Amino acid sequence: MMTLNPDRVEWRAECASTNTLLREQAEAGAPSGKVLVADRQTAGRGRCGRAWLSSPGESLTFSVLFRGKPVETLSGLSLAVGLALLQALEKLGARALSLKWPNDLLCRKNGKDAKLAGVLIECAGDAVIIGIGLNLKSFDLPEQATAGLSDCLDTPASPPALLAAIVRELDFMWADFVVRGFAPLRDAWQARHAGQGKSVRLVENGRVLAEGRYLGVDDNGALRLAAADGEQIFWAGDLSLRAGDA
Ligand code: BTN
Repeated sequence: MMTLNPDRVEWRAECASTNTLLREQAEAGAPSGKVLVADRQTAGRGRCGRAWLSSPGESLTFSVLFRGKPVETLSGLSLAVGLALLQALEKLGARALSLKWPNDLLCRKNGKDAKLAGVLIECAGDAVIIGIGLNLKSFDLPEQATAGLSDCLDTPASPPALLAAIVRELDFMWADFVVRGFAPLRDAWQARHAGQGKSVRLVENGRVLAEGRYLGVDDNGALRLAAADGEQIFWAGDLSLRAGDA
C-alpha cells in the first residue's frame, strides 16, 4: 500500500476548517508539502462562501500547502488540481469520472453527473493552500446531486491509502505546474470535462453572468463561452447545464 511520509501529515479528529488552520500554520512558517487532514470539520468552507461540513466516514477532507510559485502565476491551478484528483482516483480503479469547470470532480450516477469532490484554493503570501473535500458516501442536497466514492469504486480504499494516492499525484502536478503552468495540461483537462459544446449558464452570487455554448477553457484555465455576441472568457462563477442539455 502507498503511504505518505508521516512527518509531513497532521491528522486531526476535528478542526474548524483544514484550509483555515493550514493557512495559519503557513503564516507561522509550515513547510511546503505539509498535509492537514480532519475527520470532522465544524466550519469547513466551500467555494463562493458555501459551507462544507464533514463527519468521520462520510468524506475525506484535507488541505495541502505548497510554496514556490508567485501568486500572480497560479491561473489554471484549480483545474490542474481537479485533473490530478481524477487521475489519482482512476489509478485506484474509480470509473465514470469527469471534471466540471472550474474544479469539481463528477461521477456519473443513475445517468446523471453528480458531484464527488470539490476544491478550494487559497493563498497566504507565497503559500498556496489546496483544500479538497471528497465524498466517501453520497448524501442528499436539495440544490445538487452528489455521489460518494462507493458509487464509482468497487474496491474500497482506506482514507490513509486514498490520501497517499491523491497527495502523490498532487506532488507531481505541483512540481510540473511550478515550471510550466496550466497550458500543457489543457488538452488532458478538456478530454475529461463534462459538457463540451452544451448550452450552459454561468451564475455568480445568484446573478446570471452569461449563457452560451461551452467551448472549454483557454491556456490559463479561463472558461470560454460562445455567447450571442461572440466568444467570452470568464474567470469565476458556477456553471450549470441549461434545461434540455443535461
Ligand atoms: C467546493 O465548494 O466545491 C469546494 C469545497 C472544498 C472543501 C474542502 S474540505 C477541506 C478544505 N477545508 C475547507 O474548509 N474547505 C476545503
